[in-house]
Amino acid sequence: MILTEPRLAPFYRLAALDKIDSTNSEAQRRAAAGAPAGTLIWARQQTAGRGRRGRAWQSPPGNLCFSLLLRPAVTPAVAATLGFVAGLALATAIDQLLPAGRRSELKWPNDLLVEGRKLAGILLEAGASGPSRLDHLILGIGVNVVAYPTDLPYPATSLAACGGTADAAAVLEAFAERFLDDLRTWQAAGFAPIRAAWLARARGVGEPVVVRLDHVSLEGRFAGLDEQGALLLDADDGTQRAVTAGDLFLPGIG
Ligand code: BTN
Repeated sequence: MILTEPRLAPFYRLAALDKIDSTNSEAQRRAAAGAPAGTLIWARQQTAGRGRRGRAWQSPPGNLCFSLLLRPAVTPAVAATLGFVAGLALATAIDQLLPAGRRSELKWPNDLLVEGRKLAGILLEAGASGPSRLDHLILGIGVNVVAYPTDLPYPATSLAACGGTADAAAVLEAFAERFLDDLRTWQAAGFAPIRAAWLARARGVGEPVVVRLDHVSLEGRFAGLDEQGALLLDADDGTQRAVTAGDLFLPGIG
Protein backbone atom coordinates (compact mmCIF):
# COMPACT_ATOMS: atom_id res chain seq x y z
CA MET A 1 0.00 0.00 0.00
CA ILE A 2 1.13 3.52 -0.72
CA LEU A 3 1.15 5.32 2.62
CA THR A 4 1.96 8.91 1.77
CA GLU A 5 -0.09 10.60 -0.93
CA PRO A 6 1.86 13.38 -2.61
CA ARG A 7 0.30 16.83 -2.81
CA LEU A 8 0.05 17.68 -6.48
CA ALA A 9 -1.21 20.69 -8.46
CA PRO A 10 -4.69 20.30 -10.04
CA PHE A 11 -3.09 19.64 -13.48
CA TYR A 12 -2.16 16.16 -12.29
CA ARG A 13 -4.67 13.31 -12.14
CA LEU A 14 -2.99 10.80 -9.89
CA ALA A 15 -3.63 7.06 -10.06
CA ALA A 16 -1.70 5.44 -7.20
CA LEU A 17 -1.32 1.70 -7.70
CA ASP A 18 0.20 -1.00 -5.57
CA LYS A 19 1.67 -3.17 -8.33
CA ILE A 20 1.62 -2.96 -12.13
CA ASP A 21 3.57 -4.43 -15.03
CA SER A 22 4.91 -1.04 -16.11
CA THR A 23 3.54 2.42 -15.37
CA ASN A 24 4.37 3.32 -18.98
CA SER A 25 2.25 0.41 -20.21
CA GLU A 26 -0.59 1.44 -17.91
CA ALA A 27 -0.32 5.04 -19.15
CA GLN A 28 -0.45 3.75 -22.74
CA ARG A 29 -3.58 1.75 -21.99
CA ARG A 30 -5.23 4.75 -20.39
CA ALA A 31 -4.11 7.03 -23.24
CA ALA A 32 -5.79 4.66 -25.70
CA ALA A 33 -8.95 4.84 -23.58
CA GLY A 34 -8.90 8.66 -23.82
CA ALA A 35 -7.28 9.67 -20.51
CA PRO A 36 -6.45 13.39 -20.35
CA ALA A 37 -3.08 15.13 -20.19
CA GLY A 38 -1.84 15.22 -16.62
CA THR A 39 -2.78 11.60 -15.92
CA LEU A 40 -0.01 10.38 -13.63
CA ILE A 41 0.39 6.69 -12.95
CA TRP A 42 2.41 6.01 -9.80
CA ALA A 43 3.09 2.46 -8.67
CA ARG A 44 4.73 1.14 -5.53
CA GLN A 45 6.22 -1.68 -7.57
CA GLN A 46 6.59 -2.67 -11.24
CA THR A 47 6.87 -6.29 -12.36
CA ALA A 48 8.00 -5.50 -15.91
CA GLY A 49 9.53 -2.03 -15.74
CA ARG A 50 11.44 -1.13 -18.86
CA GLY A 51 14.26 1.24 -19.66
CA ARG A 52 15.66 2.74 -22.81
CA ARG A 53 16.73 0.56 -25.70
CA GLY A 54 14.69 -2.43 -24.55
CA ARG A 55 16.45 -2.87 -21.22
CA ALA A 56 14.74 -3.92 -18.02
CA TRP A 57 14.30 -1.42 -15.18
CA GLN A 58 14.24 -2.74 -11.65
CA SER A 59 11.53 -1.18 -9.47
CA PRO A 60 11.50 -2.61 -5.95
CA PRO A 61 9.11 -1.11 -3.36
CA GLY A 62 10.50 2.11 -1.92
CA ASN A 63 11.86 3.35 -5.22
CA LEU A 64 9.86 5.78 -7.32
CA CYS A 65 8.35 4.80 -10.63
CA PHE A 66 5.71 6.82 -12.39
CA SER A 67 4.52 7.87 -15.83
CA LEU A 68 3.02 11.16 -16.87
CA LEU A 69 0.70 11.37 -19.87
CA LEU A 70 0.91 14.54 -21.97
CA ARG A 71 -0.95 15.56 -25.10
CA PRO A 72 1.01 18.53 -26.51
CA ALA A 73 -0.23 19.88 -29.83
CA VAL A 74 3.18 19.60 -31.50
CA THR A 75 4.99 17.21 -33.83
CA PRO A 76 6.59 14.06 -32.40
CA ALA A 77 10.05 15.61 -32.93
CA VAL A 78 9.18 18.69 -30.91
CA ALA A 79 7.47 16.59 -28.23
CA ALA A 80 10.70 14.63 -27.79
CA THR A 81 12.31 17.76 -26.31
CA LEU A 82 9.94 17.34 -23.35
CA GLY A 83 12.35 14.65 -22.16
CA PHE A 84 14.83 17.45 -21.45
CA VAL A 85 12.13 19.43 -19.63
CA ALA A 86 11.55 16.38 -17.43
CA GLY A 87 15.29 15.83 -16.91
CA LEU A 88 15.82 19.42 -15.89
CA ALA A 89 12.87 19.36 -13.48
CA LEU A 90 14.05 16.09 -12.01
CA ALA A 91 17.58 17.41 -11.46
CA THR A 92 16.29 20.51 -9.66
CA ALA A 93 13.92 18.41 -7.57
CA ILE A 94 16.58 15.88 -6.63
CA ASP A 95 18.99 18.65 -5.62
CA GLN A 96 16.41 19.88 -3.09
CA LEU A 97 16.42 16.41 -1.55
CA LEU A 98 20.17 15.77 -1.45
CA PRO A 99 22.35 16.90 1.43
CA ALA A 100 24.19 20.21 1.03
CA GLY A 101 27.26 19.88 -1.14
CA ARG A 102 25.87 17.08 -3.33
CA ARG A 103 24.42 17.92 -6.70
CA SER A 104 22.93 15.89 -9.52
CA GLU A 105 24.14 16.01 -13.11
CA LEU A 106 22.32 15.23 -16.34
CA LYS A 107 23.63 12.72 -18.84
CA TRP A 108 22.39 12.72 -22.42
CA PRO A 109 19.81 11.83 -23.33
CA ASN A 110 17.77 11.13 -20.21
CA ASP A 111 19.81 10.01 -17.24
CA LEU A 112 20.45 11.64 -13.92
CA LEU A 113 23.72 11.02 -12.09
CA VAL A 114 25.09 11.81 -8.67
CA GLU A 115 28.87 11.67 -8.43
CA GLY A 116 29.00 9.76 -11.70
CA ARG A 117 26.51 7.10 -10.62
CA LYS A 118 23.06 6.69 -12.14
CA LEU A 119 20.26 7.67 -9.80
CA ALA A 120 17.36 8.03 -12.23
CA GLY A 121 16.33 7.45 -15.82
CA ILE A 122 13.58 8.69 -18.09
CA LEU A 123 11.84 6.73 -20.82
CA LEU A 124 9.86 8.66 -23.43
CA GLU A 125 7.22 6.83 -25.41
CA ALA A 126 5.12 8.59 -28.01
CA GLY A 127 1.82 7.57 -29.50
CA ALA A 128 1.77 9.09 -32.97
CA SER A 129 -0.47 8.65 -35.94
CA GLY A 130 2.09 9.93 -38.47
CA PRO A 131 5.38 11.87 -38.63
CA SER A 132 3.60 15.14 -37.98
CA ARG A 133 0.74 14.04 -35.73
CA LEU A 134 1.27 13.21 -32.10
CA ASP A 135 -1.53 11.64 -30.11
CA HIS A 136 0.23 11.55 -26.76
CA LEU A 137 3.60 11.42 -25.06
CA ILE A 138 4.39 9.39 -21.98
CA LEU A 139 7.23 10.43 -19.70
CA GLY A 140 8.21 7.43 -17.61
CA ILE A 141 10.52 8.18 -14.71
CA GLY A 142 12.33 5.81 -12.40
CA VAL A 143 14.27 7.08 -9.39
CA ASN A 144 16.40 4.87 -7.15
CA VAL A 145 15.19 6.20 -3.82
CA VAL A 146 16.09 3.42 -1.37
CA ALA A 147 17.71 0.74 -3.53
CA TYR A 148 19.87 0.51 -6.63
CA PRO A 149 21.00 -2.35 -8.84
CA THR A 150 24.57 -3.55 -8.57
CA ASP A 151 24.58 -5.85 -11.62
CA LEU A 152 24.66 -3.17 -14.30
CA PRO A 153 27.50 -2.35 -16.71
CA TYR A 154 27.64 1.15 -15.16
CA PRO A 155 27.63 2.34 -11.54
CA ALA A 156 24.31 3.23 -9.89
CA THR A 157 23.28 4.79 -6.61
CA SER A 158 20.19 5.74 -4.62
CA LEU A 159 19.03 8.89 -2.91
CA ALA A 160 19.25 7.19 0.48
CA ALA A 161 22.83 6.03 -0.25
CA CYS A 162 23.69 9.65 -1.10
CA GLY A 163 22.34 10.82 2.26
CA GLY A 164 19.12 12.19 0.74
CA THR A 165 15.47 11.46 1.38
CA ALA A 166 14.10 7.91 1.48
CA ASP A 167 10.56 9.12 0.73
CA ALA A 168 9.41 8.39 -2.82
CA ALA A 169 6.31 10.59 -2.41
CA ALA A 170 8.52 13.57 -1.54
CA VAL A 171 10.50 13.04 -4.75
CA LEU A 172 7.33 12.86 -6.83
CA GLU A 173 5.95 15.99 -5.19
CA ALA A 174 9.16 17.96 -5.79
CA PHE A 175 9.39 16.78 -9.40
CA ALA A 176 5.75 17.57 -10.15
CA GLU A 177 6.12 21.13 -8.92
CA ARG A 178 9.34 21.81 -10.84
CA PHE A 179 8.02 20.13 -13.99
CA LEU A 180 5.02 22.45 -14.24
CA ASP A 181 7.32 25.48 -14.01
CA ASP A 182 9.67 24.13 -16.68
CA LEU A 183 6.75 23.06 -18.86
CA ARG A 184 5.40 26.62 -18.79
CA THR A 185 8.82 27.90 -19.90
CA TRP A 186 8.86 25.35 -22.76
CA GLN A 187 5.33 26.32 -23.80
CA ALA A 188 6.07 30.05 -23.70
CA ALA A 189 9.63 30.18 -25.05
CA GLY A 190 10.29 26.84 -26.69
CA PHE A 191 13.20 24.47 -26.23
CA ALA A 192 16.04 27.04 -26.30
CA PRO A 193 15.96 28.13 -22.60
CA ILE A 194 15.41 24.54 -21.49
CA ARG A 195 18.35 23.41 -23.60
CA ALA A 196 20.60 26.10 -22.09
CA ALA A 197 19.61 25.17 -18.53
CA TRP A 198 19.95 21.45 -19.30
CA LEU A 199 23.45 21.92 -20.78
CA ALA A 200 24.51 23.95 -17.75
CA ARG A 201 23.79 20.87 -15.61
CA ALA A 202 25.04 18.27 -18.07
CA ARG A 203 28.05 16.06 -17.63
CA GLY A 204 30.67 15.86 -20.37
CA VAL A 205 29.96 18.98 -22.43
CA GLY A 206 33.11 19.99 -24.30
CA GLU A 207 34.79 16.71 -23.41
CA PRO A 208 35.77 13.69 -25.49
CA VAL A 209 32.99 11.10 -25.46
CA VAL A 210 31.94 7.88 -27.15
CA VAL A 211 28.39 7.37 -28.37
CA ARG A 212 27.42 3.77 -28.92
CA LEU A 213 24.75 3.23 -31.56
CA ASP A 214 23.24 -0.17 -32.42
CA HIS A 215 26.16 -1.39 -34.53
CA VAL A 216 28.82 1.28 -34.32
CA SER A 217 30.56 3.54 -31.80
CA LEU A 218 31.27 7.17 -32.60
CA GLU A 219 34.06 9.16 -30.96
CA GLY A 220 34.30 12.90 -30.72
CA ARG A 221 33.81 15.95 -28.54
CA PHE A 222 30.38 16.61 -27.00
CA ALA A 223 29.69 20.04 -28.52
CA GLY A 224 26.10 20.56 -27.33
CA LEU A 225 22.54 19.80 -28.40
CA ASP A 226 20.75 20.79 -31.58
CA GLU A 227 17.27 22.32 -31.60
CA GLN A 228 15.66 18.88 -31.31
CA GLY A 229 17.88 17.58 -28.54
CA ALA A 230 20.23 15.50 -30.71
CA LEU A 231 23.78 15.30 -29.34
CA LEU A 232 26.25 17.30 -31.44
CA LEU A 233 29.48 15.40 -31.83
CA ASP A 234 32.57 17.11 -33.21
CA ALA A 235 34.92 14.65 -34.89
CA ASP A 236 38.70 15.11 -35.12
CA ASP A 237 38.42 15.79 -38.87
CA GLY A 238 36.35 18.92 -38.17
CA THR A 239 32.98 17.47 -39.15
CA GLN A 240 29.98 17.63 -36.85
CA ARG A 241 27.33 14.97 -36.54
CA ALA A 242 23.94 15.12 -34.78
CA VAL A 243 23.21 11.86 -32.96
CA THR A 244 19.54 11.31 -32.20
CA ALA A 245 19.73 8.05 -30.21
CA GLY A 246 22.48 6.08 -28.54
CA ASP A 247 24.33 5.41 -25.31
CA LEU A 248 26.79 8.03 -24.20
CA PHE A 249 30.03 7.00 -22.53
CA LEU A 250 31.88 9.69 -20.60
CA PRO A 251 35.43 9.72 -19.32
CA GLY A 252 35.54 8.53 -15.73
CA ILE A 253 32.15 6.78 -15.80
CA GLY A 254 32.08 3.02 -16.26
C1 BTN B 1 16.37 4.30 -18.54
O1 BTN B 1 17.21 4.87 -17.87
O2 BTN B 1 16.65 3.38 -19.32
C2 BTN B 1 14.93 4.73 -18.40
C3 BTN B 1 14.28 4.09 -17.21
C4 BTN B 1 12.83 4.46 -17.07
C5 BTN B 1 12.16 3.65 -16.01
C6 BTN B 1 10.78 4.16 -15.72
S1 BTN B 1 10.11 3.51 -14.23
C7 BTN B 1 8.56 4.20 -14.61
C8 BTN B 1 8.35 4.00 -16.11
N1 BTN B 1 7.78 2.69 -16.36
C9 BTN B 1 8.61 1.90 -17.03
O3 BTN B 1 8.38 0.73 -17.38
N2 BTN B 1 9.74 2.56 -17.29
C10 BTN B 1 9.72 3.92 -16.78
